[in-house]
Amino acid sequence: MGSIISASPEETERFGRRLGEGASPRSVFALYGELGAGKSTLARGLAHGIGAREPVTSPTFTLVQEYRSGRLPLVHVDLYRLEGPQEAEALHLEEFWNEPAVVVIEWPEKMEELLPPQTERWELLLLSENERMIRRKAG
Ligand SMILES: Nc1ncnc2c1ncn2[C@@H]1O[C@H](COP(=O)(O)OP(=O)(O)O)[C@@H](O)[C@H]1O
Ligand SMILES: [Mg+2]
Repeated sequence: MGSIISASPEETERFGRRLGEGASPRSVFALYGELGAGKSTLARGLAHGIGAREPVTSPTFTLVQEYRSGRLPLVHVDLYRLEGPQEAEALHLEEFWNEPAVVVIEWPEKMEELLPPQTERWELLLLSENERMIRRKAG
C-alpha cells in the first residue's frame, strides 16, 4: 500500500479496515494530519478490521480508549490535548505495545521520540471537502 486518494469517509474507513486486518500484536499505527483530515475515521475502520464490535468513538476527551472485543486488543489514543512528550511519557503507552496490543495514535507528533521502531506512519491530507490523500510517511 503506497498512497491512495479517498473520495469519501466510507472509503477511508475501508482503507483503515484493511490495515486492521493486516495488523499483528505490537503493531503501532501513527496517524498524522490536521483536524478533519480523517484520522478518527481511519481508526474506526482499523478497529473494525481487528474485529472490535464496540462503537468506536473519538477519544479526544478520554485520551486513551481500549477495545477488547476483537482478535487483538486495540488501544486508540488521541494526543491532541497533550502539551508534549513529558505528558505523553506519563501515559506509559509502551505497556500497550508490549502487552501485546495494536495501538493507533492520533497526533503522534506529540510523542515522536517515544514511538517504537515498528511504528507505521500514515499521513492524511485534506484535498477538498470529500477527498483525502492517504500516504505512508517516513519516520
Ligand atoms: N474522504 C474522506 N475521508 C475521511 N473523512 C472524510 C472524507 N470526506 C469527508 N470526510 C469528513 O471529514 C471528517 C473527518 O473527521 P475525523 O475522522 O474525525 O478527522 P480527524 O480525526 O483527523 O480530526 C468527517 O466529518 C468526515 O465525514
Ligand atoms: Mg480525531
